Amino acid sequence: MNLPNLKEAKVRTTNEVAIKTDEYIVDPELKTFGKGKTYFVKTYGCQMNEHDSENIKAILEDMSFTETETMEEADLILLNTCAIRENAHNKVFGMVGRIKHLKQTKPELMAGICGCMAQEESIVEEIMKKYKWLDIVFGTHNIHRLPQILKEAKDKQEIEVFSIEGEIIENIPVKRDSKYKAWINIMYGCDKFCTYCIVPYTRGKQRSRTPEFILKEAKELVQKGYQEITLLGQNVNAYGKDLGISYNMANLLEDVAKLNIPRIRFVTSHPWDFTDEMIEVIKTYPNIMPYIHLPLQSGSDRILKLMGRRYTKESYMELFHKLKKALPHSSITTDIIVGFPGETEEDFEKTLEVVNMCEYDSAFTFIFSPRVGTPAANMEDDTPLEEKEKRLYRLNELVNQYAKKANDKYLGKIVPVLIEGRSEKDPNMMMGYTDTMKLVNVKNASEFVGKIVNVKITETKTWSLDGELLVD
Ligand code: 5AD
Ligand code: SF4
Repeated sequence: MNLPNLKEAKVRTTNEVAIKTDEYIVDPELKTFGKGKTYFVKTYGCQMNEHDSENIKAILEDMSFTETETMEEADLILLNTCAIRENAHNKVFGMVGRIKHLKQTKPELMAGICGCMAQEESIVEEIMKKYKWLDIVFGTHNIHRLPQILKEAKDKQEIEVFSIEGEIIENIPVKRDSKYKAWINIMYGCDKFCTYCIVPYTRGKQRSRTPEFILKEAKELVQKGYQEITLLGQNVNAYGKDLGISYNMANLLEDVAKLNIPRIRFVTSHPWDFTDEMIEVIKTYPNIMPYIHLPLQSGSDRILKLMGRRYTKESYMELFHKLKKALPHSSITTDIIVGFPGETEEDFEKTLEVVNMCEYDSAFTFIFSPRVGTPAANMEDDTPLEEKEKRLYRLNELVNQYAKKANDKYLGKIVPVLIEGRSEKDPNMMMGYTDTMKLVNVKNASEFVGKIVNVKITETKTWSLDGELLVD
């Protein structure tokens, strides 16, 4: 991928040096930049993006902007984008069309694109050519520079995208979406370079935060009464490998667990880096939740090799059984790609075989989407889309069957649920998640928001459970 040219995108527009170690410092005069103005941030993609948006919102509020519920009301609109699959492109540019329309009646409206799509050279070029009226574009490595970027954009389009990550910026403020659940980034980027994946290009090389900063953030959350922390990274099991100290994910999990936060989760795990030491720690500390997301991607060794996944079906299954033996009540979920270049019916059936063996609690399933610049985008792919869609359908049928089977085991059981808020499906019910990450809709629980309560499961569905609050 020819991403270094993105540096030129910045040079072309501002003539500034692209890469330097930087800090989050707001020019005092920018602290009132947004006074009397409102902002709207729309987030696409993974939890990493959700968490970046929490930083973006806090930065904007630090500049005196206030958040608004709808795009139509906003004086500043930012789209925090995802690049993992092609369909994101259409969604984002559909939205960009709506923003153009709004700008026609409100010329002072500012709007911009940030996140992973902004790290793609072709997107930046498209914006510079076709969407001159978008005010700002910034990437994943310079969120902390948003105040300066907005200032520069006052009278021209401002594009600042760094192709190479700088140092980790530690003091970016955060406006957390929830008062009970929080994300903590433990690392940025990824060094795995799976052949289909754009993340190592859009998010840069792996950089772990030091344990001191992570533990400080976790302690503050404990003090504020947070019930749940999710440790975030593209490949959390490789945490620490780049730090040059002897401290790994097992050590971090143990240190966070000792802070006595009621619930700890971590995403995403790559099967290659999942150690016995980690399993031991998860088993030892009851506040590390028995929920593991373990992406399979494919059940065929031939395809796994083409994907550059570094494990085989056999070694994946060995890890799976080890986890289930150590944590018998755990739920395990996965990600699967169908229609990777060259995937035959036989390869696909091997994926189904693994699904049959693992009986996943649930799975995110995707049709392979070629991402420009990744090795897989240039691999020969002669399977028609129609066939890929059929495979996806067959896979989803199987996944749903096991999801229902896994949920059925909860019928009549009493499970701990962290009540988060009103149920989207039924406003008379509250919703929350079990320790195993099952969505539960609960009756009569409106006074228990932010609390972990015992719930008796009264009905099971494919993607959720219904339950009744147990009051002692
Ligand atoms: N095409 C389809 N799915 C992809 N994923 C990542 N890259 C691609 C791609 N190019 C899926 C993987 C990953 C999840 C987050 O998205 O399954 O685990
Ligand atoms: Fe992408 Fe592979 Fe890294 Fe996951 S481990 S982010 S799939 S390159």
